[in-house]
Amino acid sequence: MSVLRAAGLGLGYEGRPVVAGLDLTVAPGRITAVVGPNACGKSTLLRGLARLLRPTAGTVLLDGRDIHRLSTREVAARVGMLPQQPTAPDGITVADLVARGRHPHQRWLRQWSAEDENAVAAAMVATGVTDLATRPVDELSGGQRQRVWIALVLAQETGLLLLDEPTTFLDLAHQLEVLDLLQDLNTAGRTVVAVLHDLNMACRYAHEIIAMRDGAVLAQGPPASVVDATMVEKVFGVRARVITDPTTGTPLVLPEPRPRP
Ligand SMILES: Nc1ncnc2c1ncn2[C@@H]1O[C@H](COP(=O)(O)OP(=O)(O)OP(=O)(O)O)[C@@H](O)[C@H]1O
Ligand SMILES: [Mg+2]
Repeated sequence: MSVLRAAGLGLGYEGRPVVAGLDLTVAPGRITAVVGPNACGKSTLLRGLARLLRPTAGTVLLDGRDIHRLSTREVAARVGMLPQQPTAPDGITVADLVARGRHPHQRWLRQWSAEDENAVAAAMVATGVTDLATRPVDELSGGQRQRVWIALVLAQETGLLLLDEPTTFLDLAHQLEVLDLLQDLNTAGRTVVAVLHDLNMACRYAHEIIAMRDGAVLAQGPPASVVDATMVEKVFGVRARVITDPTTGTPLVLPEPRPRP
């Protein structure tokens, strides 16, 4: 099982720092939810962990080795990443887009194999997009498209999945379906890191919460030990009551309504 770690990590864009001095270890074999306000650096952190952004300081280590010293193929075979706003080539069909998840597995002169075919079919079944196979991606609804992108990442068959807001655009039923899917993948041995905005879903599904603010990790640990009223106030600037979810026993965040005039 691959271990992903950031040590003294600095990330930014054109000299503008976003993340500084960040240390964290992604809990192997667990589900980690990254939470925090807009623009706090969640996507930037994921890009850094997926080797899509070069650190301005520190390192990202995959199994103890600097990720920037590994080949693109080596990283892609172990780490799958769903960006927050992925873009598909014009006119590409669902099946062709999902098949792109197999690129890291292809070798020079190696033909498309039964293994590739099976991985693509399984990823499409898991995300419920099989019936959309021949449709152009740019003609799908936001939720359908989101599930197609998740299928692409699954087809890559990596031990580590980094997903930036995988439930955005999804209705309640499909949100639950995707989170259940992540749970199943995790049970089957995959390490999952997902940026989630719904704190209560994060508490239900994640073993670990990473709470970020202003490019730094304010807290990391199991939901029950991290998520309380003080944390919600510190991270989001929102006053809330945190009670125990009666169905799951995990923290349930109830923002305080503003006083009525
Ligand atoms: N490609 C980019 N070029 C320049 N600045 C960027 C770029 N991407 C993000 N930023 C800036 O970096 C900061 C952190 O952005 P990031 O996308 O990591 O936030 P986030 O926590 O993912 O927010 P959200 O919840 O809105 O997705 C923001 O100030 C943003 O404007
Ligand atoms: Mg983001």
